Amino acid sequence: MEFKLPTSSSNLGVEIQNINIAKSLSDKKIIGIREHWVNYGVAIFPNQKLNLEEYENFSQQFGPFGEEPFLIPMQEHPHIVKLHRKPDEEATHFGGAWHSDWSFQSSPPSATMLYSEIIPPTGGDTLFANTADAYDDLSSDLKQRVKNLRCLHSAKLPYAKDGVYATEGKARTMKIHTSDEANKTMSHPLVRTHRETGRQTLFINPVYTIQIEGFTKEESDALLFELYIHMAQEKYVYRHKWQPDMLIMWDNRSVMHMAEGGYDGYERLLHRITIAGDTTE
Ligand code: SIN
Repeated sequence: MEFKLPTSSSNLGVEIQNINIAKSLSDKKIIGIREHWVNYGVAIFPNQKLNLEEYENFSQQFGPFGEEPFLIPMQEHPHIVKLHRKPDEEATHFGGAWHSDWSFQSSPPSATMLYSEIIPPTGGDTLFANTADAYDDLSSDLKQRVKNLRCLHSAKLPYAKDGVYATEGKARTMKIHTSDEANKTMSHPLVRTHRETGRQTLFINPVYTIQIEGFTKEESDALLFELYIHMAQEKYVYRHKWQPDMLIMWDNRSVMHMAEGGYDGYERLLHRITIAGDTTE
């Protein structure tokens, strides 16, 4: 097993080579992968031939399955969701704004994995932003301002009955279930300490973070907007370019991500698994 470390300013994206992840891995290998994954935010395994059972087995070496609300999983694989967009589809592509997966849960997933099957010849990149480096680089004044703040997170913008996915009016291949459950809120600290690296991260994202607690809506929007502009700067962003048969695994505690789109007219199919995480306190 060899690690190709990131060379860009984002410090995200370690490629793990000379390994066959279809087989169960030694504890030593799992520890090595885990260490690189938490330090570099996104672990990339190119050229892996996996069936879905092997994919599930690989994922389980990093923790139990997470809970997938709103996305209807595969019938025979209740922990795998197909991210599928067909060539003639007009609905917006899934995951097209910065987010951290299911940050409205009490214990959001630590990892999300995607395994690629059909990749368009153009577009379809996934972008990742380093929320730990973004925190470190805040001015001391801004660090003081965000220090003890808490934010409400909710799934309502995309998944409520009047949310984006319920109202867009275009046919979608992906099976999404919108529901009143999406209106529930969950409080998390704005600055989260990562349990494995000990680093502080900005645990906010424009899709699920709806309000800073104790602020007016205007004050909250202004500060969140300032932070989002800071977090999405190119120096923190890793652009992932897909190949078929590639598995990637990212750390939702220290990165936010978005799917870029730009492949209308082409098919794209990946399989997604989340791994349960811990509380954010
Ligand atoms: C997501 O899980 O948010 C989608 C990522 C992608 O399709 O690239």
